[in-house]
Amino acid sequence: RRRTAVLRREAVLATVPVAVAALLAGAGTASASTVGSAGAGDPYFPLSGNGGYHVSHYDLTLSYDTSSRHLDGKAVLTARATERLTRFDLDLSGLKVTRVTVDGRTARFSRSGQELVVTPARALAKGRAFRVTVLYDGTPKQVTDPDGSADGWIRTDDGAFVAGEPQGAMTWFPGNSHPKDKSSYDFTITVPKGRTAVANGVLLGQHTSGGRTTFRWRQSEPMAAYLATATVGKFKVQQYTTRDGIKVYNAVDPREASGSAAVLKKLPSVLEWESKLFGPYPFRSAGSIVDHAPSVGYALETQGRPIYDSAPDLSTLVHENAHQWFGDSVSLTAWKDIWLNEGFATYAEWLYSEQHGGDSAQRTFDALYAKPASDELWAYPPGDPGSGANIFGEPVYARGAMALHELRKAVGDATFFRILRAWASEHRYGHGTTAEFVKLAEKESGNDLGSLFQTWLYKKGKP
Ligand code: ARG
Ligand code: ZN
Repeated sequence: RRRTAVLRREAVLATVPVAVAALLAGAGTASASTVGSAGAGDPYFPLSGNGGYHVSHYDLTLSYDTSSRHLDGKAVLTARATERLTRFDLDLSGLKVTRVTVDGRTARFSRSGQELVVTPARALAKGRAFRVTVLYDGTPKQVTDPDGSADGWIRTDDGAFVAGEPQGAMTWFPGNSHPKDKSSYDFTITVPKGRTAVANGVLLGQHTSGGRTTFRWRQSEPMAAYLATATVGKFKVQQYTTRDGIKVYNAVDPREASGSAAVLKKLPSVLEWESKLFGPYPFRSAGSIVDHAPSVGYALETQGRPIYDSAPDLSTLVHENAHQWFGDSVSLTAWKDIWLNEGFATYAEWLYSEQHGGDSAQRTFDALYAKPASDELWAYPPGDPGSGANIFGEPVYARGAMALHELRKAVGDATFFRILRAWASEHRYGHGTTAEFVKLAEKESGNDLGSLFQTWLYKKGKP
């Protein structure tokens, strides 16, 4: 969720034509049947992800020196070829690759923009499981997104704020960086003693020797690469288990401790409230990373443990944790469908307010609907934001939530909440598209909802 509503749309540009040209160039160099493609086919981010294989597991061993800013990495990917591959790509931006092996044999590799192109010693047969090891190092550099914001490995004064939506995962590990591909993760992260490295999932252990501390984390449920984190800083840590058996790990920058204490205390009750509404919490771990990263300007629903650039307010905590169901457990297949993440998480904020003595969702809707036709809210439709520059804009968040409110009014509360729970359970740990959501809503309600969604998701201008 954005802390400010400022849209930096001028910054967009140029990266898209360049990326498309690179994609076309790559596609022309060899027969498509044996060479994995340079992108996953997402028009908003044509080079994100890759074709020809899926990754089932990442084993990342990282060591970060907070004074020199140097990262040493070893990534071991367990993958499966979806077609015969003489060559395939991984996404990696910056950093230096020193060695690549495929199933233990040295592989040739080259770099081209954000593509790490790997040629295994032997072609991989279609359906074949394989293991890729990449050794790399260097100073990670954040990427600038089409809307002018930054993501990836973002340095802070005491470490790094690591958040990869939509394309920053490639700034710190090589992979198949598109939400179409979900995988389990192991992280082994070594940092100077006194710093904490917080990743996703459950903390398996930590030990200190020779002035350095190693943290081992395991994310067992499937995760999209953009939701991975390895945030490093000086943190106060708090751990406990909820009544539902969820392991909570909070890491808080001391400068944000007093400002965040009251809100963080509410996490178990927020998760319980969301579980009642959306169905069981999807992960075995939860928590918060409250960093002090004034340059970032947003929070992210990093899986099982959202990250905040400063002490969050309660509504932001509700938003990021609602994403655990909508966005993290149920993932996008294309960035164009981003309202399925942001519209849902925003509507969770409206519902929370309604059920906790604040404004009703209707009142929030009415206040937005009162905005003039010239307002940014109506600049483009949420179901088709038009480009990667618009995916975090007001129409996606607020008008996306308005679309859900319209659905709720059309089908009634009982059916509406049944639809939300069915969406979370039927697509749990997988993916969902807008078309599938519309179909589900029609099935559960028995209504023809085509024109409602057409109006609220796709119609240009104020409905
Ligand atoms: N998904 C995040 C949220 O709404 C926002 C991420 C923004 N990322 C960015 N690069 N601007 O909770
Ligand atoms: Zn969000």
